[in-house]
Amino acid sequence: MIKKVKKKIKKFIDVRVRLLKDQQYINQQINFNYNQLSQLFREDSFIPFSAWAISPTTILHVINDISINKRKNIIEFGAGASTFYIAKLLKTIKSNATFYSVESDEDWALELERQLKLYEISDFVKIIYAPLVEVSNNYALTDQRTWYDTYILDQKLKDQIEFDLILVDGPFGGSTPYARYSAVPYLERYINDRTSIYLDDVQRKDEAEILTLWNKKLKFKVIEIERYACLKKDQNFDVTPFQLSNPWI
Ligand SMILES: C[S@@+](CC[C@H](N)C(=O)[O-])C[C@H]1O[C@@H](n2cnc3c(N)ncnc32)[C@H](O)[C@@H]1O
Repeated sequence: MIKKVKKKIKKFIDVRVRLLKDQQYINQQINFNYNQLSQLFREDSFIPFSAWAISPTTILHVINDISINKRKNIIEFGAGASTFYIAKLLKTIKSNATFYSVESDEDWALELERQLKLYEISDFVKIIYAPLVEVSNNYALTDQRTWYDTYILDQKLKDQIEFDLILVDGPFGGSTPYARYSAVPYLERYINDRTSIYLDDVQRKDEAEILTLWNKKLKFKVIEIERYACLKKDQNFDVTPFQLSNPWI
């Protein structure tokens, strides 16, 4: 009896220790990635990382991609920390890429524009304020009710031919079921074999389903890291962030 209890306790402790070690490894990796990002803003600066911000790992993956694969036509949904780093990278590497950031909250968009000016990077991003409105059936999934106003997007993107990088970190998940689904159906005509697509929060049920459905349509290769996924074909250089070795594996 005592032997059985001891065995159970040992198993419980082993599992806990393993979880802690895994988490410690992830934290080290995020620290490393954040340090990488910090190379971009050397002057006095403060880029807010709130609970709503995307992980430094995702941003590093995206800016590796922009820098190494010379991305020229970029769009993100959901502005914030990611917008600063992408715009700053474009300035730093003297890129003439077009970068759109689609934002549904007008106050957030205005504050972001103010801060982008402060860091002299506002010329490297076009913020599109597009409120969430009823989504048309062409772009909706089951009980999804809203997405960005496509009338505004149509106007702003009318001269655009393709997108080679798409980052989907908005609208915020609580806005409606399947809040982020419409990005790929809406942008389908701009997507080609060179496009890479990043979707954040794939640990959530809705985003996991969205990822499956997008890939059914696109048949790209999917990489999942931390809590985001990258969909791409093998047409480009590998831009996965440097992985620290995990001593626990
Ligand atoms: C997941 S956030 C986008 C985060 C952004 N890509 C970043 O890297 O920080 C999705 C939306 O939440 C809203 N949002 C962002 N930060 C917020 C905050 N601190 N509080 C409330 N809403 C926020 C904005 O409307 C944004 O488009």
